[in-house]
Amino acid sequence: MTPDDAMDIQMAGPWITEHEEKLVLDALRHGWYGKDAYRYVETFEREFAAYHNREHALMTPNCTTALHLVLAGLGIGEGDEVIAPECTWIGSVAGITYLRAATVFADIDPVHWCLTAETIGAVITPSTKAVIVVDLYGNMPDWYEIISLCAARGIVIIEDAAEALGSRYKGVPAGKFGVASAFSFHRTKTLTTGEGGMLLIDDDALFERCKLLRDHGRAPGTYFNTEVAFKYMPFNLQAALGLAQFQRLDELVDRKRWLWRGYRDRLGDIADLHFNPEPGNVRNGVWNTALVFGPSHGMTRDRAVSELAAMNLPVRPFFHPLSSLPAYPGREPQARTMHPNAYDVSGRGINLPCALNMTEASLDAVAAGVRRLLGRA
Ligand SMILES: Cc1ncc(COP(=O)(O)O)c(C=O)c1O
Repeated sequence: MTPDDAMDIQMAGPWITEHEEKLVLDALRHGWYGKDAYRYVETFEREFAAYHNREHALMTPNCTTALHLVLAGLGIGEGDEVIAPECTWIGSVAGITYLRAATVFADIDPVHWCLTAETIGAVITPSTKAVIVVDLYGNMPDWYEIISLCAARGIVIIEDAAEALGSRYKGVPAGKFGVASAFSFHRTKTLTTGEGGMLLIDDDALFERCKLLRDHGRAPGTYFNTEVAFKYMPFNLQAALGLAQFQRLDELVDRKRWLWRGYRDRLGDIADLHFNPEPGNVRNGVWNTALVFGPSHGMTRDRAVSELAAMNLPVRPFFHPLSSLPAYPGREPQARTMHPNAYDVSGRGINLPCALNMTEASLDAVAAGVRRLLGRA
C-alpha cells in the first residue's frame, strides 16, 4: 500500500513496505542462532549511531527505558534533582522517579515549546545533577545557550530526541546533543519498531556502564552478575523492522514534512495560528504537526479537541503541563505561576492527525474541520 491508498484518517501510524517485510522475514527465518541472534540489533545500533555521529548505541525496549538506563548509568539517585520541561510525554521523566530522584519542572519557550537556558537557570539548585532537554514535536531549542549554561554549572545534559528523528540544529542532527540522547520507535513515531528505543552515547565508560545495566549486570556472554540491574534487552525482529525503516528514513521524514506543509498551506491565510516552527538554523523533522491557536481566536485545547472529535477528526491535546497531572500531586498551584508559558501554550494547542497513511484528501478534511471550528469555513 502507498500512503495515497488510505481511506480513513488516523492520528498516527507507520508506513510499512515490502522492504520491512523482507528484513523482518529474514530475521524470523535466520535470526536466531549464533552470531545471527543479534545481527539486526548490532547493525541497526551501528548504523543509527553513525548517522547521528555518535560513538555508541544501545537499542532498548522503548525510549522510557533508554532514559531510565542512562540516568541510572550516570548514578542519579535519591537526593538528586533532574530538571525537565513541563510539556512533554511522561516517558521523558518517569525514570527520574524510578530512581527516587526529584523531578523539577521548568517552563517552556512560547515559540519553540522547548526548554531555554533561562527557564533551566530559574530552577537550578545545588542538588541539580542533570537536565533532560526534549526536542518537542521535532522542534529544536537554542541548544548552544543551554550547553554553555550547563557546562558552566556542571550539569549533565540528556537529550530526549524521541520526537526529533530527522531534525537538525545548525546542521547537527537531533540526537547529537548532551552526554546521551534517547529515541522512541513507538508505533506512533516516524520510524517504528512497534515498541522500541535507542540510547546514543559518546563516552566509552558511560556506554559500558549502561550496557552492563541493560542486561542484568552481566558482561555479554557470561552468567556472572556483578549487581542486580535491569533487563532492557532488544530483540532481533524489532531491530530488523527498525533497520528497514531506518534505510527509508529520508522518505519517512519527507512525508512528515509534507503533512506539516500541507496543513500550513491549507490554513496559512488564517492569522494567529502557530505550527511547529522552523527558524533558519533548524530543519524540523516534524514528528507531529501541532497547532496552537493564537489568543485572538479565543479557542481552548479542550474545546477544539471535543468539537473536532464530534466531526470525526481524531485530534489530540497538546502535551499537558506534567505538574497539572495527578501523577505529580500538589504541584499545580505553584507551577501555574512559575511556568506561565507551559500552561498558556498547552491550553491552546492540539496535535493534528499525522499518520503516515494520510492523503491530500485527509489533509483537506482536517483543514476544513479546523476552519469550521474557527467559523472560517
Ligand atoms: C518526548 C518523548 N519522550 C519519551 C517518550 C517515551 O517513548 P516510549 O513510548 O518509546 O517509551 C515519548 C513517547 O511517546 C516522547 O514523545
